[in-house]
Amino acid sequence: MSTILVTGGAGFIGANFLRLLVPRHPEHRFVNVDKLTYAANLASLAPIAERDNYALARVDIADEAAVAKLFADTDPDVVIHFAAESHVDRSILGPGEFVRTNVHGTFVLLEACRKHWAGRLDGKLFHHVSTDEVYGSLGPEGLFTEETRYDPSSPYSASKAASDHLVRAWGRTFGLPFKLTNCSNNYGPLQFPEKLIPVMILNTLERKPLPIYGKGENVRDWLYVEDHCEAIWRVVNEGALGETYNVGGNNEMKNIDVVDRIVELVAEATGADLEELRALKVFVTDRPGHDLRYAIDSSKLQRELGWTPRETFESGLAKTVRWYLENDAWIDAVRTGAYRDWIAANYGDR
Ligand code: NAD
Ligand code: TYD
Repeated sequence: MSTILVTGGAGFIGANFLRLLVPRHPEHRFVNVDKLTYAANLASLAPIAERDNYALARVDIADEAAVAKLFADTDPDVVIHFAAESHVDRSILGPGEFVRTNVHGTFVLLEACRKHWAGRLDGKLFHHVSTDEVYGSLGPEGLFTEETRYDPSSPYSASKAASDHLVRAWGRTFGLPFKLTNCSNNYGPLQFPEKLIPVMILNTLERKPLPIYGKGENVRDWLYVEDHCEAIWRVVNEGALGETYNVGGNNEMKNIDVVDRIVELVAEATGADLEELRALKVFVTDRPGHDLRYAIDSSKLQRELGWTPRETFESGLAKTVRWYLENDAWIDAVRTGAYRDWIAANYGDR
């Protein structure tokens, strides 16, 4: 049996990961290490919360003493590092938390691994979950490969780039066993309604304006979250130590086309008038430093480890719209702050 620390396991991708992997692998113990920020939601973990091979540790990864205690208490074999501040717009409004969690927090975890695993590195692994945004923006042609030069644009992507460099440096300098994945934009159930797809689904349902930055011509490569989780698990188990794997959906779309499709799916699912929903679209001031295009070449992962995405954008988006239609309680909780009140009442300052 291995003990696997999953940092950020109460966030969007981490919770999807735990919901997939905890029931499938009773032989492993999964410890969710999460500070429970605004982006976390324990309701996302309800299906696995009572499982014997799952536990939650409310820990801030940037708190050195708390992380040292966590390592002493749990004696992990593997760390899968999802925890981060993850939203570009927030990083423009307030970059400090991004440096604190994404850069310093990653440093604290790496140091904890180095110290705790000293002299017994066999079978140990630090898996770093990162983003394609570290590569900056593409023009109309080309794809990001694992060799693309780092050129981050936003405080978010710069902080993730810094964390990637720290992980590789701990590998080269201290021999820390690590792997890295850089993934494109994820979408799916449990995503906090600040990112494009859940914002557009929920605003359409509530007949609120659909704010499209600039002209809506920026391109993102969308991947269904469970396909990302399966890719990470594949790399953790079968990837080569010290290697980086790009993960992408091979599914480039302009934002405006994503919004149009969401509006159509909501109209189909609810019987609403399509023209009324289309009229909700508004073009708003562009994001400063807005990357034009992301597109990923994930052929290394496909060739070497046989991973391919299972969902098409069409099937994944339909599932996602349905999930937001069917999960009012989850949505109300994140929107009203009732969830945050619950955390305060139940966890206090612990
Ligand atoms: P999220 O914002 O939904 O969740 C982040 C989680 O990290 C939350 O549960 C939060 O409470 C936790 N967290 C934040 N600061 C913490 C701290 N100091 N200590 C402990 N926990 C803390 O993020 P997400 O979308 O699930 O992204 C997860 C990871 O995947 C991030 O590292 C992100 O950079 C990366 N990633 C995301 C995408 C995407 O499209 N969402 C794409 C590629 C890579
Ligand atoms: P986002 O979901 O924030 O992801 P990222 O910036 O990490 O790619 O944004 C995806 C794209 O959608 C990006 O080009 C910005 C754009 N966008 C909007 O046009 N309107 C919105 O309300 C949001 C949140 C994003």
